[in-house]
Amino acid sequence: MLQGITMNGKPLVYLDNGATTFKPQPVIDAVNYFYNNINSNIHRGDYEIAFKADQAYDHCRKTVAEFINCDEREVVFTYGATSALNTVAYGYARKNLKEGDVILLTRAEHASNALPWFRVAEETGAKIEYIELTPTGKMTLWNLRKAIHEGVRIVAIAAVTNVLGVKTPVREICRMAHKVGAVVMVDGAQSVPHTRTDVKDMDCDFLAFSGHKMCGPGGTGILYGKYELLEKMDPMLLGGGANARFDSKQNVILKEAPIMFEAGTPNIEGVLGLDAAIQYLMKLGMDNIESHEQELRDYLFAELAKLDNVTVYNPDGDSAIAAINVKGVFSQDAACYLASQGVAVRSGNHCAKMLVDVIGTNDTIRCSMYFYNDKADVDALIRALRTCTLENCVGVFF
Ligand SMILES: Cc1ncc(COP(=O)(O)O)c(C=O)c1O
Repeated sequence: MLQGITMNGKPLVYLDNGATTFKPQPVIDAVNYFYNNINSNIHRGDYEIAFKADQAYDHCRKTVAEFINCDEREVVFTYGATSALNTVAYGYARKNLKEGDVILLTRAEHASNALPWFRVAEETGAKIEYIELTPTGKMTLWNLRKAIHEGVRIVAIAAVTNVLGVKTPVREICRMAHKVGAVVMVDGAQSVPHTRTDVKDMDCDFLAFSGHKMCGPGGTGILYGKYELLEKMDPMLLGGGANARFDSKQNVILKEAPIMFEAGTPNIEGVLGLDAAIQYLMKLGMDNIESHEQELRDYLFAELAKLDNVTVYNPDGDSAIAAINVKGVFSQDAACYLASQGVAVRSGNHCAKMLVDVIGTNDTIRCSMYFYNDKADVDALIRALRTCTLENCVGVFF
């Protein structure tokens, strides 16, 4: 449980970690350190504090490389998972796809890993196809095998889906996709914060994730790309810092990857905070985080199963995320009632608007946990759910 924060006069039970996470003190300190001591732009200033800012910013690339097991040159700083995913759609797919090529998705994808591909398909004449999922959002190898064929050029897939918390067999996907010459874009927004990530072992071509979902500051994210692919991509943004030379005849020479993808002044303080966040997570140990969350997951689902007023959409979910509804109560009304009891959850479609085709509803309550949650948080949620009736919800509003 988070200490010292209250909501509606109750201790805060924060179960909306799939949306964003709280920041530990070292992250806040790192951001403050920048503002208080070395506030300057990077890779431009010829004075001491600017050199320090350069060093601190560049250090984060090393930290990320260690965290996901890649080369520093394969780490691009972005503004979040969304901008990382768009960078690949814009810079790789638009350039390499042609009419009739297939982009393979699932109906469980977040808008940020669907809409950029829809646009690529519209612009290039490529087709979108879907890997079928089971009614609880799982991907079977049988369905995967059926979906991957010679025409597939890109597979864009979440390693963990954001509503049902289902783990996707990414290694298997990469192996099968590579056999037909397709490239794999992994959306790691809901996986990287919670589990050990090794891009070499996974053998994905691209990986996107957000800093703010793993204790880092807002407006930070990472695009990992195999260097030989990054080298051949176009940057989505052009501007200062990312070019080596240009002249009035419009001759432009860009810097090499990853710098060519980071035009403009980046979120420097955010990157420093992200470095602190990743170091914090590594110190805790990603395996420890994962096993703690698994324990919470088991406890949460066991307790939910005892409630007869709650529908659970992902009883076989793989993560500490539950997608539920209180029978006879609209998800947003239920979320407001839970908030009145100090419990923060998210309601609605969670930006996964195609998931309705799989689970039959566009409105759920999502309870998503992180390493700082504990069984007392689950108990508080269960207590609040037990008293979540239509009558009590009305009482919140009137
Ligand atoms: C699976 C998934 N992909 C992408 C995103 C987009 O992340 P961001 O808003 O940080 O860019 C999210 C955010 O909720 C997500 O859950």
